[in-house]
Amino acid sequence: MKKYTFSLIVLVFGMWLLMGSCGNEKKDANNLSPKKSGQKSEKKEAWKESELSNAKQILSEVTEGDIQSVNAKSVYATQCVSCHGPKGKMEIGGSKKLTESKLDLTTIVTQVYYGKGLMTPYHKILSKEEIVAVSHYVKNMQQ
Ligand code: HEC
Repeated sequence: MKKYTFSLIVLVFGMWLLMGSCGNEKKDANNLSPKKSGQKSEKKEAWKESELSNAKQILSEVTEGDIQSVNAKSVYATQCVSCHGPKGKMEIGGSKKLTESKLDLTTIVTQVYYGKGLMTPYHKILSKEEIVAVSHYVKNMQQ
């Protein structure tokens, strides 16, 4: 009888452990899923001071003439359309429509440069001039 009680306790304890670990796994899975990580993107909302000042630096270096020399429309068409759509109205991977975006130019440059969430960082793909020009281009999409 004693032995039976003991195995029952072991069994219950074992089940408790099992259920406990299953619960944790579920939590981890949620943390990994990009859709549920609203918290994560909120955290990233706050750009580091160094990132923003780097964007300001880039903006100050790129002249009006540099911007004119870039075909921003074609940069947008090759780099951004796949996710944001030709008119910036596509919502994908947690992105709102660019037409409904309220970001200022510095923040847009920061985001294009460093990427965010599922968005590609462009600092190794585009030149500074292209980043600034395409940022102006999407800034102009805002309504
Ligand atoms: C791989 C898909 C993808 C590509 C390619 C992409 N983006 Fe994005 N973009 C996103 C996602 C996802 C977000 C939302 C990021 C977040 O907030 O987590 C976003 C957000 C943005 C925002 C901010 C909107 C707001 O108000 O929050 C801007 C501006 C933007 N993208 C511009 C661009 C530009 C310019 C390009 C091309 C140089 C580009 N994106 C290419 C996926 C992409």
